[in-house]
This record gives sequence, C-alpha cells and structure tokens, in this order.
Amino acid sequence: MTVEEGTIEGIGERYQAHLRQVEERRNRLNQELKTSLTGISKIVLEIGCGHGHWLTDFAAAHEDRFCMGIDLIGNRIERAKRKVGRAGLKNALFLKAEATELLEQLPRGVGIQSVFVLFPDPWPKKRHWKNRIMNPDFLDRLSDRCVKGAKLHFRTDHTEYFEWASKVAASAEKWKRASDASWPFERETVFQSKADSFQSLILEKQ
Ligand SMILES: C[S@@+](CC[C@H](N)C(=O)[O-])C[C@H]1O[C@@H](n2cnc3c(N)ncnc32)[C@H](O)[C@@H]1O
Repeated sequence: MTVEEGTIEGIGERYQAHLRQVEERRNRLNQELKTSLTGISKIVLEIGCGHGHWLTDFAAAHEDRFCMGIDLIGNRIERAKRKVGRAGLKNALFLKAEATELLEQLPRGVGIQSVFVLFPDPWPKKRHWKNRIMNPDFLDRLSDRCVKGAKLHFRTDHTEYFEWASKVAASAEKWKRASDASWPFERETVFQSKADSFQSLILEKQ
C-alpha cells in the first residue's frame, strides 16, 4: 500500500527520509574531514567563503597554515576548488558544509586557530535574526573547537548586524573583544567589493 502525501503516515515517512539524509550527509562530511585532515592539528577556518577568493589568497600568503573554507552552496565551493587547483596550493581545502555540522564533525585532534566570518548573511528581518551566525549558541560551540587564544574575525557592511554581533560578543563568556588586534590580512571579498563601508570585530577565545 502506498502512503498518501499529506497523511500523518506520509509526513512521518518524509521526516524519516529527511533524518536519513541528514545522517548520511554528516557521515560523508566526517569521512571527508578524516581523510583530508590526516596529520593536521590546527586549521584556519573561513565560514561562508563564497567563491573562495579571500581564503585562496590568504593560504598563498601563509603556507605554514592549513586553511579550510566552507559554504552551503555547492557551485561556489566547486569554483573555490578550481581556484586552489590553479594556484597549486596544498594548504587549502574547500568543503560544502554547514558551519554547525562542520564543528560537530571536525576530528577531535584538530583545533581551530583562527576563524573568519566575512560579510555573512545579515538576515535583516527581526523574525529571521535567529538565523544569524553570530549568535550566543554558535559562539559557544565555536569556542569549544578553538585553541586558546584563537581569534574570530567578523566583518559586515550591515550596521545593525554589527551592533547585534557586538552585543552578543560582549555577553559571551568564552570570548573577549580584542580591541588592540589589527585585521591580519586585507583582500577584498566579493561582497566587500560591493559595500560602501563596513565594520570589523575581532574576538579572542579565553
Ligand atoms: C553574503 S555571502 C558572503 C560570501 C563571502 N564571504 C564574501 O564576502 O564575498 C554569505 C555566504 O555564507 C554562506 N553561508 C550562510 N550560512 C552558512 C552556514 N551556516 N554555513 C556555511 N556557509 C554559510 C552562504 O551560502 C553565502 O555564500
């Protein structure tokens, strides 16, 4: 007997299928990370790397660091991978992954030494604020995977998001604003090149 769409049974089946997909995606990410990070104990992470312009240039300028860029959008990651291939870089890896899932699946022996969140989606409507990446729960989870003294670099052209992120940061127990720190590497991202102005925030893990 087939289960009709819209029945309780149908919803139950679709939900089960969704859970199986999530599980498969997590297992794939876990395997990919284990394989790619063999022998690596520290990484620089860019969350929402888009087409990878910024991180590719960062990796080329810092050959002693292993750099990982993640983004939700597959074709952006494919372009980023081609860029790294053309540059012949061995210290940069791009993965299609969601930030929270990445933190969960990152092998335990790997610590994040530096994080970049550049021009993240600002989610301007109040009902969407819960989607903003700079939220208390995410900062907490991120801190758990960062080495002591790790720095989180956040940059946005959205004034209201900047103020929100500053407030979230001020009440985060595991992060402190690094007011004296300077921005470590300047390269325009795609979104930066379109912005009239922007603000930056640097936090240090306690
Ligand atoms: C506004 S774009 C900025 C891209 C790039 N950083 C730049 O400045 O040009 C934000 C990017 O973050 C990605 N993104 C949003 N939420 C994410 C998440 N939870 N995990 C990973 N990537 C995410 C989006 O797919 C998008 O490519």
